[in-house]
Parts: sequence; C-alpha cells; structure tokens
Amino acid sequence: MPQDANALNGLKERLGALILAHSYQPPEIQDLADEVGDSLELSRFAMEAGAPLVVFCGVRFMAETAKILSPQSVVRLVSPGADCSLAACMNGRDAREWKASYPGAALVTYVNSSVEVKAESWACCTSANAVNVVRAAPSDEVLFGPDRNLAAFAAQESGRKVIPWPGGCHAHAGADIRDLRRAKEQWPDACVLVHPETPPVFWREADRVLGTGGMIRFVSESRVRRFIIGTEEGMLHRLSTLFPDREFMAAGGISCADMRNSTPEMVLRALDSTDPGITVPEEHVERARRALERMTSL
Ligand code: 13P
Repeated sequence: MPQDANALNGLKERLGALILAHSYQPPEIQDLADEVGDSLELSRFAMEAGAPLVVFCGVRFMAETAKILSPQSVVRLVSPGADCSLAACMNGRDAREWKASYPGAALVTYVNSSVEVKAESWACCTSANAVNVVRAAPSDEVLFGPDRNLAAFAAQESGRKVIPWPGGCHAHAGADIRDLRRAKEQWPDACVLVHPETPPVFWREADRVLGTGGMIRFVSESRVRRFIIGTEEGMLHRLSTLFPDREFMAAGGISCADMRNSTPEMVLRALDSTDPGITVPEEHVERARRALERMTSL
C-alpha cells in the first residue's frame, strides 16, 4: 500500500529508526527492511548502527540480543508474541545444573536462547560461527545447547569433544528427508544447501551444510543455476531477490509460524508507538553481553 509505505518511511526518518529483518521473514517485510540478514549480521547491525529506535522483525531472542548489544537503543519486536521453540528447550536452571555436572567444561550456547542461559555461557554462537566458537572453547569438553543438531555439526567439523543438549528447532528438526529426496528427483542437477539445524541425514544428502548467511555467500560464488534449499521457507525470497538469475526450490515444508506472522501494518504500529520496547533482566545482562561479545568477535 503506497500510502502506508509513505507513512512508514516518513516515520522512520523522523525517528531515526532502523528496521532489521531476519531472512526467514515474509517477503513484504524483507522488502521494506533497511537490513536483512542472518542472526550474526543482525546482531552486528544493531550494535554498530547505534540507532535511537530499532524495529526488529524476527523472534524474541533476536530482539533481546539487539537490546543487549545496543543498550542505548529502544528495541521493539514487531510481533511481540514471536518466540523460538528452540530457545524454550533450555532454561537458566538447566544450564546451571548441566554445568555443575561437567565441572571445567565450557558452555557454548546457540544465540537462540534466553538471556539467562546466555549469562551462564562462556560464549554464544550462531550457525555462522558455531564451529569457530567451539574450536576456541578453553576446555577439553564443550557443552553445547540447546540445539543437538548444531552441536553434532560443530563436533563433526571441529573435531572437539562436544556434549549436546537434547533440544531442537521444531521446524528444522521435524523436516522430512523424503521431501528433500523428492526435490532432488525433480531437479537432479541442483546444488543442495541445508541448515545445520536439520537432522544429520539431511547433511549426508546435501552438497553443503550452511547457515543462512553462508548460503548467500555460497550462491554468490557458485556458477550453479539451481539450488534446493533446506531451511525456513522465507529464505527462498531472500535468495530469489539477491540472485534473480538463479532458481531455488524448498527442500520441503520447513516453516516457522513465529517468523511468518509479521505484517507491514505491524511494522507501522511498532514505529508509531510509545512502547518502551524490549527489556532484559538486569541481573543477567552483563554476563550475557560478555558471551555475546565473544560471539561477535570470533
Ligand atoms: P541463522 O543463524 O542462519 O540466521 O539461523 C537462525 C535461526 O534461527 C535458524 O533457525
């Protein structure tokens, strides 16, 4: 709606707001955002921009991460009920008890986690740098949570002894390998890229296992025309926008309802609001920030 687009741009300029969207967001949200990226890139954008208002199109842990890394910004989550099923797989007490049963082991947590879990961690990581963070962990054994598939991938690639927490993303972990096989039958010449949150059987049948940012870099450097993509379906719009001369097919129904429910009207409401935005529990912020700073620097 052009009238809404004008209102949105006018408000954005007046407020000095920055609109950030994850690559899993619906097409119309990606198209209006200032920056679209993976979890690591969005954390860095929020930190470096220092905007007075950050309007975040994603899920809660992403907006909390932006708030911790950019405390001077008001950070509003466009869809306030948007949560991450994976982040809910581990709470602060789980993390403390787990650490107590492995004295000396460093805890690395996926950024898809609560602030309290981050505060218990030696470092956070995203799918883009999980292998590097695990390699850098200062202990013989590395506890990795909450995603068991990413833990297994980091162990495989780093050669480190990684103990996984038994959590998973409902969308990626629940993906059906038969969907990928059907897609490969349809496009036998395609290159298959899958996210490390998918089960290991997907990795064995893929050409590359990559986070969303890694998928973009891989396509940009590849001469292949067709790609089968094993991650949340929003990524297809991102890839088709960046690479209109290539073809992309989803490896099956990997869809996250929490990522899908943002609308342009919600973005407008988040801009035109007096809501103080995301708050993070004061007692955990400093330790969580240290774990996130390790993540952004590794
Ligand atoms: P990326 O790290 O690739 O952005 O993935 C984020 C995510 O939440 C995957 O489910």
